[in-house]
This record gives sequence, C-alpha cells and structure tokens, in this order.
Amino acid sequence: ANRRPVIAGNWKMFKTVSEAEDYAVKFLDEVKDVTDLDIVLCAPFTALHALKNELEESIVHIGAQNMAWADQGAYTGEISAQMLLDVACTYVIIGHSERREMFGETDQEIAKKVQQAIAVGLTPILCCGENLNLREEGQAVERVQGQVSRALSGLSIEDLSRIIVAYEPIWAIGTGKTASSQDAQEMCAAIRATLTELMGPTAEKVPILYGGSVKAENIGELMKEPDVDGALVGGASLDPLSFAKLIKNAG
Ligand code: G3H
Repeated sequence: ANRRPVIAGNWKMFKTVSEAEDYAVKFLDEVKDVTDLDIVLCAPFTALHALKNELEESIVHIGAQNMAWADQGAYTGEISAQMLLDVACTYVIIGHSERREMFGETDQEIAKKVQQAIAVGLTPILCCGENLNLREEGQAVERVQGQVSRALSGLSIEDLSRIIVAYEPIWAIGTGKTASSQDAQEMCAAIRATLTELMGPTAEKVPILYGGSVKAENIGELMKEPDVDGALVGGASLDPLSFAKLIKNAG
C-alpha cells in the first residue's frame, strides 16, 4: 500500500520536564536522517512545552495522550485542543484502552474528542482493541469494528481522511505478548473494512497502526503486513536510543 508509515511513541505517565528535554536531544540526533516515515512522540501534558522548544520544526512531531472535547470553560483538570496547538502538538491519542478502562471514557466521549481534534486541525490517533475474554469468545472483530464506527459516526469523508487508527489488543499491552503479525493484519484489515463502509475508497489512505509490546525486534515482521502501516509504541519508546533503533528497523 502506498501509505506513509507512522511510528508513534506513547510515553504514558513517564518523564519529567528535564527527562523529556534530555530524551529529545538524544533522540533527534539519532533519527534526524529518517525520511521514509512519520515519527510522533506523545508525551505527558507537562512535558509538551519543553518538547516544543526542542523539536518544533524538526522531523519529530509532537502529540498529546488525551484531550478535552470542549473548547474551553469550567472543566477542572482538562486540557483543550487549543492548548495543545499552542505547544506545537499536531497529533493526539484519543480513546486509549487505559483511558477507557481506568478512567471510564465512553465511545460517545471518544467520538466528541475525535471531532474536536479534527475541527482544530490535530490528527487524532483513535485507539481501539479487545480484551482477552472477547478474543477467546471470538468477539474481537465485532468489538473493534463497533468501537471504530461509534467513534467516527457523523464525520464527513473529508474529516475521516485525516484520522489515524491504532489497533491495540489489551492483552498485548505492556505484557510482552505481541499479537502475531497475522492476527494484527487480520484485525487491521477488518478495521479498514469498517472504514471503507464509512468513507468508501478513501479508507485506503488511512494509516492503521498496531500497538502492544512492539519492540525493535518485532517491528520488521509487523510492517510487512499489507494493512499494518506503523506502530503505537509504549514501553519501547521510553529510551531514546532503543526507540530510534525500532524506527530504523521499521523503515
Ligand atoms: O500506546 C501504546 C500501547 O499501549 C502499547 O504499550 O508497547 O508498552 O505494550 P506497550
């Protein structure tokens, strides 16, 4: 497929400002000559301004891990899309399974966040994925396709063409247990089928990432699959040198 690959790191709740600055300097030095894919670092809110200083106008794009669905107002503890633009974010992760499971995010809220991101020009990385029970019961495809269609309902084809989808089976996140390349491919193809129902042939342009224990050692295999267009990387993005190595193995 002629989709440009995307490798996104998700630091989750790791790294202080000084750790983020130190990372950015080392990482940029390692990846500065990478031209064949898009690189994104999704950092905690408190580190974003420091990353703007280090990375704005570099080839490394900055992303957040969550965002409010509202424009502004009395929403204690929330961060708006405008605030993310202000610190040079161009991407935002929406609906990560950790937010769905531990912070009660619903498909309805996720849909509003995706709409808000697109409205301001941020690229949403919409996450979806099933837990182990659903996989064992043979319900995984239905769950994931349902999550995708509920998150994207009501968007125009033009809006839909600006999203990224990340398939992250919950049983593979942080467990060291990667989905096989074949399982990843099957689900990414199922997601593309849902996207095709929503947006027609433009679905061929949407990058679909795999996430769940991706490392430098397994990214090459995953990237060979026709519907896997990159990765959303947690643990293996925390060290700048090993994340850079993963990125080189993906190209
Ligand atoms: O967003 C990233 C995923 O949750 C994967 O995390 O690479 O640590 O398994 P992991």
